[in-house]
Amino acid sequence: MKKIPLFLPFMSKEAVKNASAVLQTPWIGEGPKVKEFEKKLVPWVGSNNVLTVNNATSAIHIALRLANVRGGEVISTPMTCTATNEPIINEGGHIVWADINPNSGSIDPADIEKKITKKTKAIMIVHWGGNPCDLTKINSIGKKYGIKIIEDAAQALGSTYKSKPIGSYSDYVFFSFQAIKIINTVDGGALITRNKSDWWKGKELRWYGIDRDKRKVQDTYWDYPIKVAGYKFHMNDVTAAIGLGQLPYLDGLLKQRREQAAIYRNAINESKTLKTVEVLSEAKPNWWMFTVLCGSKESRLKLWKKLSENGIDSGEAHIRNDLYPVFKNSKRDKLDGVTKFNNEKLCIPIGYWVTKSDVRKISDILASF
Ligand SMILES: Cc1ncc(COP(=O)(O)O)c(C=O)c1O
Repeated sequence: MKKIPLFLPFMSKEAVKNASAVLQTPWIGEGPKVKEFEKKLVPWVGSNNVLTVNNATSAIHIALRLANVRGGEVISTPMTCTATNEPIINEGGHIVWADINPNSGSIDPADIEKKITKKTKAIMIVHWGGNPCDLTKINSIGKKYGIKIIEDAAQALGSTYKSKPIGSYSDYVFFSFQAIKIINTVDGGALITRNKSDWWKGKELRWYGIDRDKRKVQDTYWDYPIKVAGYKFHMNDVTAAIGLGQLPYLDGLLKQRREQAAIYRNAINESKTLKTVEVLSEAKPNWWMFTVLCGSKESRLKLWKKLSENGIDSGEAHIRNDLYPVFKNSKRDKLDGVTKFNNEKLCIPIGYWVTKSDVRKISDILASF
């Protein structure tokens, strides 16, 4: 039986056409399409300070460099893709794990505040499945202690908080356009900076310490005073052209996911066992993932089996990061919220490939569980 997949890439006809057109021009590297894509992202991310990159992991590296975390501590959440946390180690930061709210998967602002020390350089937060964290409390903590906030919005393109797009609030916010995200550029990402000065610095870090728009091209050589060692993290015109063909669909994709999520939520209200993630009143998720909280590990396995027998794929998506050997040197205490959420969560299919009858079938299973 062909299963309803948990994730499926979205690729519009225009994206395919655009990529093919760029591939037949002499300019396939970073060029005008990248600039055009960055401009088109502005209303979706609530800021003019957009830097596209080759993937969101690269954006994390740049954000951590800008936040100057080397040798300092970064408070982070274990409840995420390891892509959030591995760059902290690679950029020379020490991770201090904070607990999460087990009802939402979002980092707990009160626990963040408890874990601040003189060495804290940044706070990394993650919008699990595109469900916004408490940006008001978290940003006021950042302000109070003079600590930079980095928002992992890899999964949150199109989500809003207080009616403004995610991207409008913190020092650094990054998005992913990886294959299965709400829209993809095959691979890609964007970093949003609060300050223009960080945007300029980030632009240099993105490409070998050089702002490509500012280098002087002389007769036979180009000139630029390279002051910082950068990376090769830029987006190229082929992937940007794909993004330009995908963005016009974002509104419709969001609407569809929100309708599907509303049906799932109603079904879960009827279930004796299941719950879904709490959503803050200020927040409007993009529902990139729909997370069911099953009450226990055993009950999750039962639901997974039931869905599977009915041709429906489901899964945990990510597991807590703090127990991986790679993070053995990080600071860890009892993380009860993480344990509970990690044991209970199960993500079910949501997105353009889930038909109305699929939604009905899944909802019936949820309601009677
Ligand atoms: C929460 C989270 N952070 C970071 C990333 C890294 O994004 P990318 O694959 O674009 O590097 C991902 C997933 O891809 C993610 O889900």
